Amino acid sequence: MKHFLDIHQTDPADLRSIIDNAATMKASRLGRPRGAPDDDQPLKDHMVALIFEKPSTRTRVSFDVGVRQMGGQTMVLSGADMQLGHGETIADTARVLSRYVDLIMIRTFEEATLLEMAEYASVPVINGLTNRTHPCQIMADIMTFEEHNGPIKGKKVVWSGDGNNVFASFAHAAKAFDFELVFTGPQTLDPEGALNGLYTTERDPNKAVEGADLVVTDTWVSMHDPQSARERRHNQLRGYQVNDALMAKAKPDALFMHCLPAHRDDEVTSSVMDGPSSVIFDEAENRLHAQKSVMRWCLGK
Ligand code: CP
Ligand code: NVA
Repeated sequence: MKHFLDIHQTDPADLRSIIDNAATMKASRLGRPRGAPDDDQPLKDHMVALIFEKPSTRTRVSFDVGVRQMGGQTMVLSGADMQLGHGETIADTARVLSRYVDLIMIRTFEEATLLEMAEYASVPVINGLTNRTHPCQIMADIMTFEEHNGPIKGKKVVWSGDGNNVFASFAHAAKAFDFELVFTGPQTLDPEGALNGLYTTERDPNKAVEGADLVVTDTWVSMHDPQSARERRHNQLRGYQVNDALMAKAKPDALFMHCLPAHRDDEVTSSVMDGPSSVIFDEAENRLHAQKSVMRWCLGK
């Protein structure tokens, strides 16, 4: 069973071929309407369940469109509306869904929910974000970096802000794709200990971004963080905002990424988001292409 649960649980050679295939598939669609079917229809006759226990714009739309382009059908399910949200076990849900669909994508809170779904499903399961990781996002980000600035191997990536779930998948990717990753943020929001050894820390953001090929940030308050922490987090993270002065310290051709949704003028200024270094909308688009390739890999198509 080829689940796509996390970057570090997937063979680096498979990750590379997923990205390369995504680029080929993207190129083959150039200029076509978004709803036009792919020529080869690899998901013909396939049914895909997309389960969301948290809000989503990009993940939801990109998976849905991607499945349709490949000739499959989708059902988008809200966790709260399923029996899953009313006491049915994850294991039973996984066994039942496996009788109806060929592939399950789930966005959830606890990583344990994803892992239990994968353990009991008899069809592939894809991680569409948990409190701990967001691997599909980072596949799109690697693809985007390489489209603009060539191979990411050996490059310097700097993360400024909260050591959160998106950072964790970057840390896994640093090992798999062999790039340098620097975390800059307050000690109180350091990444989880399990990621130690995959990145280095530099508390001074100005020093951290020196020589960076890519600067990345994310929201200061994630969906799983209590809203009560908002003010405290803003106070802790204010000095880590990505702005023009910070970007000026990176390499002249450095890119800026943000998985979105962004809070303009909190973690990043509008001038950077809309400026020449920013590839944020390419990242969003590449969610579609990267995930199509992930789904094909899962299904052996
Ligand atoms: N980046 C991302 O996963 O966006 P959504 O929350 O809109 O899916
Ligand atoms: N870190 C963010 C990412 C959203 C795509 C969150 O988990 O809310």
